[in-house]
Amino acid sequence: MVKSLDVPDLVLASPQQTDSFGQTIGKVLRRGDVLALVGELGAGKTALVRGIVTGLGGPVASVTSPTFMLMHEYQGRLRLIHLDLYRLQRPEEAESIGLSACFTNDTVAAIEWADRFPDLLPADLLEVRLSHRTRTTRMVKFDARGARSRSLLTRIHRACHAVGFSTRSSQPTTRPRRKASQR
Ligand SMILES: Nc1ncnc2c1ncn2[C@@H]1O[C@H](COP(=O)(O)OP(=O)(O)OP(=O)(O)O)[C@@H](O)[C@H]1O
Ligand SMILES: [Mg+2]
Repeated sequence: MVKSLDVPDLVLASPQQTDSFGQTIGKVLRRGDVLALVGELGAGKTALVRGIVTGLGGPVASVTSPTFMLMHEYQGRLRLIHLDLYRLQRPEEAESIGLSACFTNDTVAAIEWADRFPDLLPADLLEVRLSHRTRTTRMVKFDARGARSRSLLTRIHRACHAVGFSTRSSQPTTRPRRKASQR
């Protein structure tokens, strides 16, 4: 049996901390890594990708939610494929956007709403689950699904430790505000 990594949850106390956390991830990503970003509307998935692109030295100004495009690409130290499965209705549609070709040993991938179609994604991915705690605070939980993603999680954990991110606090959780106009 594969031992799971005991990595504590992370509290992101502001959008700036989410950006810094993304930058930390971007700096330790290696070719072939896959990040499954999970969380409700406004949880901070795109905000995190913006930080990741910054950390990779890519064109951060062009990072937007790929909701209508389904896919964006950003070239930095590595090429990042940014996907959003929110609008994908059926697994068959994944073929038309070339989803399977997005996961290669040469690129890294970050997938928003990855939990909608888990069977379409590589088995070895790092799930990064974001949830609202307060209006400006987010909680992050990790789940590494294989050897490659456990290695990534270890690198993230070490890098976070080095920059002093806080771990779980006892603040109460609040529900997100619905932003129906966004979707
Ligand atoms: N700690 C935080 N981390 C990230 N975003 C935060 C935080 N606090 C507040 N926010 C706000 O929450 C929103 C996050 O939006 P973002 O587009 O990143 O969410 P998302 O998870 O990609 O949503 P969607 O499912 O609609 O794509 C932004 O408006 C951001 O300013
Ligand atoms: Mg988004």
